[in-house]
Amino acid sequence: MIETGKTFVVMGLLDADSIAFAIGKQIQAFGGKVIYTVQSERMKKIFFDRSKKLSDEDRADLDIRFCDITKDEEVEALFEGIEGPVAGLVHSIAYSNPKTCLGPEFHTDAYEDLKLGFQISAVSLATVTKYAQPKMTAGGGIVTLTFASERAFAFYNWMGVNKAALEAVVRGLARRHGKENIRVNAVSAGPVFTIAAKHIPGFEELGQTWAKSSPLNWDPKNAQQEVAGAVSFLLSPYAKQITGQTIYVDGGASIIGGELLPHER
Ligand SMILES: NC(=O)c1ccc[n+]([C@@H]2O[C@H](COP(=O)([O-])OP(=O)(O)OC[C@H]3O[C@@H](n4cnc5c(N)ncnc54)[C@H](O)[C@@H]3O)[C@@H](O)[C@H]2O)c1
Repeated sequence: MIETGKTFVVMGLLDADSIAFAIGKQIQAFGGKVIYTVQSERMKKIFFDRSKKLSDEDRADLDIRFCDITKDEEVEALFEGIEGPVAGLVHSIAYSNPKTCLGPEFHTDAYEDLKLGFQISAVSLATVTKYAQPKMTAGGGIVTLTFASERAFAFYNWMGVNKAALEAVVRGLARRHGKENIRVNAVSAGPVFTIAAKHIPGFEELGQTWAKSSPLNWDPKNAQQEVAGAVSFLLSPYAKQITGQTIYVDGGASIIGGELLPHER
């Protein structure tokens, strides 16, 4: 589906369960070259330690670089260090301090945590686009990952706010970079049981909500692949007139009023 032999940068690898990893593997299966990023050199070691199911061959095949998206100089160096053009970029990055920005209480006075969460989860899409653009000489697709920001979920609090901002950043960037033939879109995924997500308070309940409201029987335990397919489509020439959109890959839960009734399951 995507253009064979072209280079794609996939940012946001934590372990082999990360959505980023499924996306990278899908791109490679279509014949693309993938450069993954982790947050730091230390995180690269953590990735290999945690991803025990990877074979030695898989490990040797991975091109993993590091880049903390709060540091402009690291983002700039990442793209400057890539030989040849970049055909697409995946931003699969988010962070909010779970102790202060997520949980049973919405109100918080942890303003520094709020600012950091906003920078990492929303603003950073603009940062990476700015430095990727000179390498995207033939245009291409940029895709980020969001989550159901039009609704207020228990515990998700300020991450929901960041996701709404992220979707607005997508639209701003789509408008700004259309003239360079760079398309910017978001995939709004249903809950995916990545290791990181399991640490979000109330995440188990979110999975149960989806079980009650997804006409397509969304399975949070095996959803990475579903997300990766849609991201690959948005990176591909098949999506060449799609930009600024948030595409829902959530088993249809976002369009359901209330819960599915027994005869609808
Ligand atoms: N898991 C879900 O249910 C779900 C649903 C919808 C959307 N999403 C979104 O998908 C994306 C990937 O999430 P995931 O579930 O694969 O979790 P993940 O923890 O595997 O991915 C998040 C990544 O963000 C990285 N990150 C955080 N701060 C960073 C920084 N300063 N610089 C660089 N990288 C940084 C982490 O290192 C990690 O690799 C996130 O944007 C998440 O909000 C996840």
